[in-house]
Amino acid sequence: MKKTTEEILCAAAVAGDCARLRELLSSGADPSFFDSDGKTPLMHAAAGGHADAVRCLLDDGAPWNALSPANQSAGDLAMDNGHQEAFDALLNFAIRAELVLGAVARGSAAAAATNEGYLSERIAFGEDKLMDLENKAVMMAWEKPLMEAHARAICDSGGDCGRILNVGFGMGLVDEAIQRYKPVGHTIIEAHPEIHDRMMRSGWGEKENVKIIFGKWQDVLPQLESFDQFDGIFFDTYGEYYEDMREFHQHLPRLLKPGGIYSYFNGLCGGNAFFHVVYCQLVALELENLGYSTQFIPLPVKDCLSEEIWKGVKHKYWQLDTYYLPVCQASSDSD
Ligand SMILES: C[S@@+](CC[C@H](N)C(=O)[O-])C[C@H]1O[C@@H](n2cnc3c(N)ncnc32)[C@H](O)[C@@H]1O
Repeated sequence: MKKTTEEILCAAAVAGDCARLRELLSSGADPSFFDSDGKTPLMHAAAGGHADAVRCLLDDGAPWNALSPANQSAGDLAMDNGHQEAFDALLNFAIRAELVLGAVARGSAAAAATNEGYLSERIAFGEDKLMDLENKAVMMAWEKPLMEAHARAICDSGGDCGRILNVGFGMGLVDEAIQRYKPVGHTIIEAHPEIHDRMMRSGWGEKENVKIIFGKWQDVLPQLESFDQFDGIFFDTYGEYYEDMREFHQHLPRLLKPGGIYSYFNGLCGGNAFFHVVYCQLVALELENLGYSTQFIPLPVKDCLSEEIWKGVKHKYWQLDTYYLPVCQASSDSD
C-alpha cells in the first residue's frame, strides 16, 4: 500500500533525515500526525536522538506536548534513551512555550477542582486521605515523609527554628512536623471552613506558638502586619492554578526574611516526567527573576506508592518515582 505523506514524514524522522523533513514540511506535511503506533514524527526523532530533526520539527509547529498511548511525550522518549542534545532542545522549547501559554499546567489544574468551588464544598475526612466532593484527593497520608522533609528544609537551616509560615493545613502533616522543631512562631493560613473547624477541635488553636489565620491567602496576606516576616515559608494549597502560585511568589520578597527558606509542594504535572521537569525549571526561572535560587533535592517515592493507595481516588495526581523537593533562598550577590 502506498505510504501517506505523513507516514513518509515519520520515516524521515526515524532516520533523522533533516533535508527530507524540510522538503516534506514545506510541501504541507502535517507535523502533528500520529502514526498507527500513536507516535508523532517528533517522538520518532526524539527517540532516535536526532537533535537537528527535533529542532526542525519544532520550528515547523510540531506539538512538543503530544502524548503517546503510553503517556510519553517526545521529551520522555529523549530522556529515557539518554539523548541529551535532543532532550535539551525539547526542554528549552517547552519552557519558552509554557512561559507564554502555561497550557500544560493549566490543563492538569483543570483536572482539579476550582478553588472557589472546592472551598464551598463538603470534605470527606478519612484516616489516610482528605477527599473533595468529586472523590479527588485533597491530601493523602503517603505524602507524610515528603511533608517531614519540607518541614526540615524550612525549619532546620542551622540555628534555632525561628518564625514559620505554612499556607494550607490539609491533614496537618507538615504542621505537625514543623512543631517538632519548636518554632518561635508558627502561622498557618487555611481557607476551608471544615478543615479550619477540625484544626480548632483538635487543639491547634491552643498551641502557644501557633497563630491560625482563617481565609484564602489571597485575602488574608495583606492583613499580616508589615513587620510579619518569616524565616521559613511553605506553600501547599488545593484546587489552584499555576498562576496562583506565581501570584503567591510575588509576595515572597515582603514575607521572607533575608536568608530565609521557601519551599512548596512540587506537584505540578506529577503525571508525566518530562512535563514535570519543564515545570520545575519554569518555577525555578520565575523565582530566579524574583532574586531566589532554587535547589531540588531528589527523594525516592516509589516505595510510598502502590495501586492500593489510589483505590477510590479519581485523579492519580502523582505517578513519578522521584519527588524533587524545592529549597529556595535569596541568591547571594556573588551568584
Ligand atoms: C494539599 S492540602 C495541604 C496539605 C498539608 N501540606 C499537609 O501537610 O497536610 C491543601 C490545603 O490548602 C487549603 N487551601 C486551598 N486553597 C486555599 C487558599 N486559597 N488559601 C488558603 N488555604 C487554601 C485546603 O483547604 C487544604 O487544606
